[in-house]
Amino acid sequence: MQCSWKAVLLLALASIAIQYTAIRTLTAKSFHACPVPSPVNCSPGPGEAEMAERLCEESPTFGYNVSRKTHILILATTRSGSSFVGQLFNQHLDFFYLFEPLYHVQYTLLPRFTQSRNPSDRRVMLGASRDLLRSLYDCDLYFLENYIKPPPVNHTTDRIFRRGASKALCSPPVCEAQGPADTNLEEGDCVRKCGLLNLTLAAEACRERSHVAIKTVRVPEVNDLRALVEDPRLNLKVIQLVRDPRGILASRSETFRDTYRLWRIWDGTGRKPYNLDVSQLTTVCEDFWNSVSTGLTRPPWLKGKYMLVRYEDLARNPMKKTEEIYGFLGIPLDSHVERWIHNNTRADRFSSKHKYGTLRNSAATAEKWRFRLSYDIVAFTQNACQHVLAQLGYKVAASEQELKNLSVSLVEERHFHPFL
Ligand SMILES: *[C@@H]1O[C@H](CO)[C@@H](O)[C@H](O)[C@H]1NC(C)=O
Ligand SMILES: *[C@@H]1O[C@H](CO)[C@@H](O)[C@H](O)[C@H]1NC(C)=O
Ligand SMILES: *[C@@H]1O[C@H](CO)[C@@H](O)[C@H](O)[C@H]1NC(C)=O
Ligand SMILES: *[C@@H]1O[C@H](CO)[C@@H](O)[C@H](O)[C@H]1NC(C)=O
Ligand SMILES: *[C@@H]1O[C@H](CO)[C@@H](O)[C@H](O)[C@H]1NC(C)=O
Repeated sequence: MQCSWKAVLLLALASIAIQYTAIRTLTAKSFHACPVPSPVNCSPGPGEAEMAERLCEESPTFGYNVSRKTHILILATTRSGSSFVGQLFNQHLDFFYLFEPLYHVQYTLLPRFTQSRNPSDRRVMLGASRDLLRSLYDCDLYFLENYIKPPPVNHTTDRIFRRGASKALCSPPVCEAQGPADTNLEEGDCVRKCGLLNLTLAAEACRERSHVAIKTVRVPEVNDLRALVEDPRLNLKVIQLVRDPRGILASRSETFRDTYRLWRIWDGTGRKPYNLDVSQLTTVCEDFWNSVSTGLTRPPWLKGKYMLVRYEDLARNPMKKTEEIYGFLGIPLDSHVERWIHNNTRADRFSSKHKYGTLRNSAATAEKWRFRLSYDIVAFTQNACQHVLAQLGYKVAASEQELKNLSVSLVEERHFHPFL
């Protein structure tokens, strides 16, 4: 029994590797002819010589003007407020923003193992993800076609995951179905009205914008991005978004009702199910811990490239935090972002329409978990994640009274200065 399980897993892994190799081979053409624009830029760091050399060799298209762009990666996890942070870039007219393009990599390579923790799966996923990110930052949207089923014809497709969440993909010249570029098309309207996405046009739109921002919840920790951070052809800045793990757990239980069913049973019955998958919680805490520990020790490779943002700080003072983020990036904030923040963070003017939506009162939302989770679950979480709570300045609720009393703040005042 056990043996056949293993055999199945091995087979699955082999097939993933084969698929990925096939993809690499198919696309290898675009990687070969390599007139490296400026060899000086490609000087490798110690120990990275071989990799840097390979990268320089492989890339034909990078180099021209690419270094002038800022490439932003919002490193987040599900239900940590990443859609909200994504909007801070999506609304900016100088940005080309993509919402979770790595979905396509995961869906193609690992459809069954959604949040796989198997190390080999993970390595394949991350390697493929880095390749895709590199291409997307270079506005090579055709590279994404390798992961789209059915394969796009004439570089057009209707299968881009959450296309409507990307303003650049819903406004002229990519989509002519709407008026001036500074109005917002609802996500569903975009998909309905814009028709097939022409990836050639989308790539042109990407090249015309000054910067590229990508949001992902599919990279576990900042160390997984080191090869990209150190890639001389990119100008990558990582905005790591963290949130109180208790808030994440509450929000996930509500949103992913099937996957988090056992937590809901615990919440409803007061009894912890024996087969509860605790890793649904501990993985978040471990990933945060690894990333934030790396960030806070300020390794030279992250200098000027890493900023930690707590969702709670953003929710309490969205304008101020947004200014800090743009200050770190050295990019001027624009009025569209400011207006979007004003429109979308006020109490009771708007209500949530979409389970992934960002239209709600941000400060209240950030604290809702305190009424959603039983004290037992909170206490369990506090114990399982105690190190990361302390690291990020989230206070332990010592009793049910404290948990439910909103005059007791569970977020310490902390300032995580960006590493400049
Ligand atoms: C690079 O930037 C310069 C100056 O902004 C511009 O004239 C040139 O067309 C750009 N080249 C490419 C290939 O985009
Ligand atoms: C793709 O483009 C070719 C050449 O323009 C055309 O003949 C063909 O019909 C197109 N295919 C589809 C499915 O639109
Ligand atoms: C996509 O846009 C490009 C650039 O405007 C155009 O040349 C091409 O014909 C379009 N593709 C399709 C299938 O309409
Ligand atoms: C903000 O709200 C106003 C009034 O509803 C609307 O006209 C405007 O387009 C919104 N702006 C943004 C950036 O969402
Ligand atoms: C809530 O906490 C505040 C501040 O610690 C305290 O003064 C107040 O009595 C508490 N309220 C209740 C209902 O426990």
